[in-house]
Amino acid sequence: MVKIELSENRRLQVGPTGSVVLVSCGEGEEANIITVGMYMPISARPPLVCIGIAPQRYSHQLIEKTGEFVVNSPSISIEKEMHYCGVNSARRVNKWKETGLTAIPSLKVKTPRIKECFGHLECKVVNAYTAGDHTLFIGEVVATTADEDVINGDVLDPMKARPIVQKNHVYFTVTDAR
Ligand SMILES: Cc1cc2nc3c(=O)[nH]c(=O)nc-3n(C[C@H](O)[C@H](O)[C@H](O)COP(=O)(O)O)c2cc1C
Repeated sequence: MVKIELSENRRLQVGPTGSVVLVSCGEGEEANIITVGMYMPISARPPLVCIGIAPQRYSHQLIEKTGEFVVNSPSISIEKEMHYCGVNSARRVNKWKETGLTAIPSLKVKTPRIKECFGHLECKVVNAYTAGDHTLFIGEVVATTADEDVINGDVLDPMKARPIVQKNHVYFTVTDAR
């Protein structure tokens, strides 16, 4: 097989497909939802995750202000709502009202969880780094909750949860187990 080199502005194009999460941020009337592809777990003990948020996002200032965020895992059944939150800013719309997604209280942080998602990682920001055109917020996971029907024992069953994965804004879910 011949390998071809992609052009300069396509350098991230053929990396692996990745998860998509809905990050809730802010509190009270200010609470918001942002769609995030740049999500990565980075430490088991303590449990740490990293999200990449561009400084121009409205959500960026909310996370800086409160020092908290919640990583909510959407299933493919809310693909439309997930996409809406990724192409509209809270500067112009109220994403809760427009999508019908529901804010429910978290256990350990003031930022709400999103009821329609199957899993929730409540995070407190412990570090933030600038990396190119995004800020990497490192969050310590202080509470984890999930819908009962997607959990087998103490672990997630992806065939039941049907998480969203994406590449270049093409959305997929898991359909088979090996
Ligand atoms: C599939 C998808 C993934 C995205 N991933 C990120 C991301 O990782 N980081 C980011 O800053 N913006 C990402 N975005 C863009 C934001 O979700 C989008 O700019 C959003 O409207 C920002 O909302 P806000 O201004 O209310 O914070 C993504 C959008 C989509 C559709």
